[in-house]
Amino acid sequence: MCGIVAVTGFKNALPLLMNGLEKLEYRGYDSAGIAIINSETQNITCNKAEGKLQNLKNLLNKNNIPGTTGIGHTRWATHGKPEVKNAHPHIDSSGEVAVVQNGIIENFQELKNKLEKEGIAFNSDTDTEVIPHLIQRELNTLGKLNLDNNGSTLLVAVRNVINDLEGSYALAVLWAAAPNSLVVARRQAPLIIGLGEGEFMCASDTPAIANFTNIILPMEDEEIGLLTPLGVEIYDSNNERQYRNPISLNISEQIIDKMNFKHYMLKEIYDQPETAKNWLEKYLIKNSKNGQFQINLPFDTSFFESIERIEIIACGTSKHAAMVGSFLLEQFAGIPTNVFYASEFRYSPPPLLPNVLTIGVTQSGETADTIAAINMEITRRSLVEDETFKPNLIAITNRTESSIGRQISNIIDIGAGIEIGVAATKTFYAQLLSFYGLAIQFAQIKGTKSKEEISKLIVELYKLPPLLEDLIEKHNQSAEKLAHDFFNIKDVVFLGRGINYPIALEGALKLKEISYIHAVGYPAGEMKHGPIALLDKKVPVISIASPGEVFDKVISNAQEAKARDSYLIGIAPKCNGTQIFDYLMTMPESNEWISPLLNIIPLQLLSYHIAAHRGLDVDQPRNLAKSVTVE
Ligand code: G6P
Repeated sequence: MCGIVAVTGFKNALPLLMNGLEKLEYRGYDSAGIAIINSETQNITCNKAEGKLQNLKNLLNKNNIPGTTGIGHTRWATHGKPEVKNAHPHIDSSGEVAVVQNGIIENFQELKNKLEKEGIAFNSDTDTEVIPHLIQRELNTLGKLNLDNNGSTLLVAVRNVINDLEGSYALAVLWAAAPNSLVVARRQAPLIIGLGEGEFMCASDTPAIANFTNIILPMEDEEIGLLTPLGVEIYDSNNERQYRNPISLNISEQIIDKMNFKHYMLKEIYDQPETAKNWLEKYLIKNSKNGQFQINLPFDTSFFESIERIEIIACGTSKHAAMVGSFLLEQFAGIPTNVFYASEFRYSPPPLLPNVLTIGVTQSGETADTIAAINMEITRRSLVEDETFKPNLIAITNRTESSIGRQISNIIDIGAGIEIGVAATKTFYAQLLSFYGLAIQFAQIKGTKSKEEISKLIVELYKLPPLLEDLIEKHNQSAEKLAHDFFNIKDVVFLGRGINYPIALEGALKLKEISYIHAVGYPAGEMKHGPIALLDKKVPVISIASPGEVFDKVISNAQEAKARDSYLIGIAPKCNGTQIFDYLMTMPESNEWISPLLNIIPLQLLSYHIAAHRGLDVDQPRNLAKSVTVE
């Protein structure tokens, strides 16, 4: 959701800014821009282009822009259409202050009205443009104090301005009069500082600077920082200087190669056997006494004993993983569990109950609604004196250094590696596995399943990596074939029941996200209460039918669709009952508990191939962003 990158140092700023923007493009790709200060002339040069970053590259046409301090932005439009005038950086009327911002300034209209009354003309429809004007006004008021240390003056000006901003932001500011200074600030939007060799940088996310440093300082909410070629100063909202140890990143994890795959999404689908293997190696350990495997979560789980209820908060694909998790936690581990959209939970949370475990699920760790919902939950629970209401929290995330990683100390690091495709695949997979881990741990602690039942599930998990390799290979072909026949369809209905109902939802979401085909996921038994009205020969039905508790029911529901002339695609093994499918994406016979971990594969591949066949931008679908850091 908008990416920002900024640098100051002794080297040319342009290569780092452009490289950083390439790595941040997954956060938004409506337009992009950069601004660089020439320290000799003290002029800011700003270039912006609508659309993908490539358009900005074409505009720059390999020309260098001299200067060692600069800012860059890749946009996901909130206020104002994706047009050049709305692209960042935004510059004040004197051309002296340039700003890039990620977030939403909620009181921008009020501020804009005031500035307009003072005679300031606006050039864009964005909320961000108020910031450079306000900073310039503040700088005038400060009378450009301290001209031998303009960086400090800019710091004071930005601090005064952000005090008047409502909403969330991560921003980076340049001032022509301080050509070797960069001021950065954050509130509820991610921002990290990188410590490089002869340069200091800041960005929305670590991959943006991974080619230049592996040492970072994550900024906390309400902090403001001054970066110069000589160092970094960070201050909290009380203007207290902050000191903290830098974190070192694993660079190989941050630098991502598409290899020979046409799209990152396909590569990430193919990564999943490795994702599963890594997760199993990390979280399953062999008990040296009895030789049995057990789940090894990275925090003390003894508090699980007192947990009576679980509430899970998530958005998008993470919510679907949470729904499979909820099924496992209730049906396998026997704990009443509810899943909430974070955006709903924030404003209509359930009444407080005692002994609740709250789980936040977010691959990016930065989704604004999820972060805010968790904050709200921590706050309202902390106000209750009764110990049984205290917040018990777990985060399931792929980015431990993210906002949720700093909010919650009990973290399950899903360890899927950085995912570039906007449509989540391997991170969904690792989130699912994490819920299997949690359910097993709860079942052990609560004694709701026998040792044998638990061992059986663990053995099934162990079989996954080679099974997945075969499945991906096989269904890459069958999905490509189906895509050839179905790339022009307008509507698809996905059906599943029980543990596979969330997989139907995820199958429909994947197709919508990347192919722009309308798709709906439904519990198979509910189809007759509505979606059946949509069915005819133009609307295919994809039905997940895994042997187990609800297999016969799903087959009957598929029959109902067939009777309405729908083309039926089955995600099912070849067995009695599945001959009704017009096309069978054949699955291995599996234990029902494990079936979501297999059924998701053909669905991911089918969406991928349909979108690729339609010639769409699979990795960067229109209107979406990988990390949604605004409400
Ligand atoms: C965006 C992405 C989705 C993702 C959702 C939640 O909408 O496009 O792919 O599932 O955010 O993201 P999170 O990082 O919280 O899992």
